[in-house]
Amino acid sequence: MRLNKFMASCGVASRRKCDEIILEGRVKINAKVVKKLGVQVDPKNDLVTIDDGAIRIRGYYEYYLLNKPVGYVTTVSDPQGRKTVMDLIPESRKRLYPIGRLDYNTSGLLLITNDGDLTQKLTHPSFELGKTYVAKVAGEVNLMDIARLRAGVDIGGFVTSKAEANLISANKNESRVKITIHEGKNRQVRRMFKAIGKNVLSLERIAIGKLNLAGLKVGECRPLTDKEVGYLKEV
Ligand code: URA
Repeated sequence: MRLNKFMASCGVASRRKCDEIILEGRVKINAKVVKKLGVQVDPKNDLVTIDDGAIRIRGYYEYYLLNKPVGYVTTVSDPQGRKTVMDLIPESRKRLYPIGRLDYNTSGLLLITNDGDLTQKLTHPSFELGKTYVAKVAGEVNLMDIARLRAGVDIGGFVTSKAEANLISANKNESRVKITIHEGKNRQVRRMFKAIGKNVLSLERIAIGKLNLAGLKVGECRPLTDKEVGYLKEV
């Protein structure tokens, strides 16, 4: 990011005024005076000071936990003009985007940020944290089905790894299953149920690791606490 943009987004002044401050030799990056315009800064790792006072870099990153409703796309904008999850978070001058995705018809926990490193980490296949869903499924799911989900099923060219799965309720019309997966293939949970011959009627993500939806109604969001951000960075 350009230094003047970084300074402006820290609330120092307008970009033009920031350029003046830079030209006056008052700005240092990692203890070195920078008098040139157009220098790039890494907001996460570089220490930027003005008159030897650090600019608060921490505030640059924003992290939200959203309880996504059904009927919203998980993208920043939608060519078809559908509502996007970005409509549900506070206006920001930062370039925020969702971490991973939930289907249009899936509700529940979605993280939104402008922290590229964290996004990369959380969406990388080696990422360990479980994602927990509650699926409402047509027909009766039995313990044999649950055992298959737990062991891994072929969802079409890919066999899912071990999952946690538990029956919440079951009758011949409808069943509810809590399932935790550690991968993030496209429409994975729906495809896992399809693989055992079941059709998902509704799907809600209720947790990512120990983050959950407590206190958030559908459509509401809240900033993550510093502790929660630390937890995601450390896992
Ligand atoms: N699995 C799905 O099938 N859909 C989602 O939105 C998330 C996981």
